[in-house]
Amino acid sequence: MSDSNLVSTSSDTEVATSEQFSDPGVPEHKLRLGDTDPKAAKRSERIVIALFGLSILGTIGMMAAYFGLPQDTSIAGVRIQNLTLGLGLGFALLGIGLGAIHWAKSLMSDHEVVEERHSVESSPEARAEAIQKLQDGVADAGVARRGVLKGAAISAVALFPLSFAVPLIGEIGADWNISKFRHTVWRRGVRLATDPTNRPIKASEVTIGSAYHVIPYAEDIDEEVRPGSHAWLDEKAKAIVLMVRMEPNELKEEDDRKDWSYEGIVAYSKVCTHVGCPVALYERQTHHLLCPCHQSTFDMADGAKVVFGPAKRPLPQLPITVDSEGYLVAQSDFTEPVGPSFWERLK
Ligand code: FES
Repeated sequence: MSDSNLVSTSSDTEVATSEQFSDPGVPEHKLRLGDTDPKAAKRSERIVIALFGLSILGTIGMMAAYFGLPQDTSIAGVRIQNLTLGLGLGFALLGIGLGAIHWAKSLMSDHEVVEERHSVESSPEARAEAIQKLQDGVADAGVARRGVLKGAAISAVALFPLSFAVPLIGEIGADWNISKFRHTVWRRGVRLATDPTNRPIKASEVTIGSAYHVIPYAEDIDEEVRPGSHAWLDEKAKAIVLMVRMEPNELKEEDDRKDWSYEGIVAYSKVCTHVGCPVALYERQTHHLLCPCHQSTFDMADGAKVVFGPAKRPLPQLPITVDSEGYLVAQSDFTEPVGPSFWERLK
């Protein structure tokens, strides 16, 4: 290709580009209702105040629910607490968000501003001009004139952090005694029961390949920690177990644990040793148990050892046997703390 051809092509492209992307300019400015009608502006102001007021009520409602609702640990009680706290928090955020949007769209200046492109570093004059424009914008938005609106906005934003701070402050007097992490309600003779129906399980009904979600049978544990009691959810969270049955010859058991299973039935804590999610996805062909949170995988046929993922310890095993009626029972509590590691844990 000759040089003259190249020059000609470049020139054509410049012409085509300048025609294709000609500056459309700033569209015609349209006045809003509030720009011409003081009553409409006042109406918008009232709406913004109402929305910030909604946020304030949401924050107050959230705190009232936090302090006012009884500490009911039943499923229904926990749901009501979560619902009221969530609604309070939701309205607190929604009010601030909608109030700010409506304020900006209906009351703040919407004049188009064109700023010519210039070097990245601003000159002192440009910075002074920017500050002046900012101050003009604040004056134009009428923040100083609209005292009630300003007060509502400041109150809503100032109160909102309480939604987070109050629950944290509430933890200051909480029970930090960690000794309870070392024990669960399992002890010798407590029957294994189905979760959540609380029905004792006979060894004869557990078929090869089946998996059961297990809790301690309510009748066999102390009354103050039974289902419906204040402490039950905490105790259940520590004591939950996954029980499976496989052919006895598929089990690889340490010598000191050979009597911890019953005819191929093994029971392990369901609390993941990584950060405590419930492990519950059992694959019967491989005997692998998967934690859905970060994919730690435990081998139920080999002491629930970790075969994959971030967990560092096997799941603790619950020693089990059967009673005189054929029901599966615990031989003792777990012999080590369940769940993730913690600072004071010794092994
Ligand atoms: S909590 Fe189970 S893998 Fe992270």
